[in-house]
Amino acid sequence: MAARAQNFTCQNCGAAFARWAGKCEACDEWNTLVEESAEGPRRPTRKGRPFAIEPLKGTTHEAPRLASGIAEFDRVTGGGLVRGSVLLLGGDPGIGKSTLLLEVAAAFARGRHRAIYISGEEAVAQVRLRAERLSLADAMVEVAAETSVEDIVATVSQGATPRLLVIDSIQTMWTQTVESAPGTVTQVRGSAAELMRFAKRSGAAVILVGHVTKDGQIAGPRVVEHMVDAVLSFEGEGSQQFRILRAIKNRFGPTDEIGVFEMTGAGLREVANPSALFLSERDLGSPGTAVFAGIEGTRPLLVEIQALVAPTTLGTPRRAVVGWDPNRLSMVLAVLEAHCGVRLSGHDVYLNVAGGLRIQEPAADVAAAAALVSSLTHAPLPAHAVCFGEISLSGAVRPVPQSAARLREAQKLGFTTAIAPEAAGNEAPDGFAVAVLANLDNLVAEIAHEGTPARRRVGRQEA
Ligand code: TYD
Ligand code: MG
Repeated sequence: MAARAQNFTCQNCGAAFARWAGKCEACDEWNTLVEESAEGPRRPTRKGRPFAIEPLKGTTHEAPRLASGIAEFDRVTGGGLVRGSVLLLGGDPGIGKSTLLLEVAAAFARGRHRAIYISGEEAVAQVRLRAERLSLADAMVEVAAETSVEDIVATVSQGATPRLLVIDSIQTMWTQTVESAPGTVTQVRGSAAELMRFAKRSGAAVILVGHVTKDGQIAGPRVVEHMVDAVLSFEGEGSQQFRILRAIKNRFGPTDEIGVFEMTGAGLREVANPSALFLSERDLGSPGTAVFAGIEGTRPLLVEIQALVAPTTLGTPRRAVVGWDPNRLSMVLAVLEAHCGVRLSGHDVYLNVAGGLRIQEPAADVAAAAALVSSLTHAPLPAHAVCFGEISLSGAVRPVPQSAARLREAQKLGFTTAIAPEAAGNEAPDGFAVAVLANLDNLVAEIAHEGTPARRRVGRQEA
């Protein structure tokens, strides 16, 4: 008996079903199942042909990577675009993906490499207008507004192989090889597969733009994420000018590097010294803020962590966190309660990483705890101190990697002290003091001691 065709595909997760249903059983989303032609096995139209197998050890004549010259972009891609690779750039609509890629394409063109920018969303006139605004109108980027993958491949295969092909966006593309409507999972997958074949065959680097859904996944085609060589995400808060380019997956480079840009009236500006930018609007001397000396990839980065602890009016107090892992916040709160006698069960707790940055390091534990206790006791932390260190469930402060780089960055930006794990004590540069922290208890006692007397009493009572 022939296998039953699975004709309904979830537009959210890509799962296939034989029958339509209101809810996808795989991802629990509603109204996401759409009928698409099954990609069942087709009869082979020709016999397989043997191909050449090469030894792993060999010489590649052309440079496998090409840097764009935009340092923040090159850092995230791991030193430039690899020949024949496919990269997916995801991000919220309006975050600046088209702007970034037009600048990258122009950088390639100015380096005398053929760069083609295909827009499926905007007319050529619109792309030109943007190029003018970005002062890129003189760059020899080739532009077209097109959505048929077959036509695109046929066109760009003429003449010299392009070094870079930008497809903006993959959701607007369609290929004749599948029958579903444009924008469906099958179409996106089919179009991406065609473009990947072109990249591998020609050696051109292809960048696909993908829009992100509300829950942060690259819309519909999560399937594309595992096909491509690298996935970059372009992030930022709508109200802020900072944009952060982050590698989520990279077959040819590191995945923990970030690139920092600032959106200006004339396009994206590279930010070579992000710490200075993230600390530029600091509220000196107010309780509830701590400066965290972090590491993103290979680069030290100072950011301000802000906390607000206030008596709750609700039965269940609120815990809200922006830019950090909510589970780590819960853990830090639990350790403060269990080992330091800081009672927060009657308080709402808000934690925010300034500047729209998202921190993933456990090393931020100490800074978060310091900001929380500082807010609770109304005791500002010393303005010239940075914090870092991981907190264990026992309340001990554990060492974190790259202390020396964190301390050097802090000194460079005018800080004079660090509240840090013991191991960092030996790594301090000249003229820089490290207040060694063995466990969280010491930190709480010290901050509470600094609180104003009236406030301190309130803090103590609750603490
Ligand atoms: P865009 O690159 O079109 O975003 P995406 O392709 O990710 O949807 O950028 C859109 C936003 O960027 C738009 O709201 C205006 C802003 N912008 C600037 O602030 N300065 C500029 O020079 C440009 C080109 C755009
Ligand atoms: Mg766009």
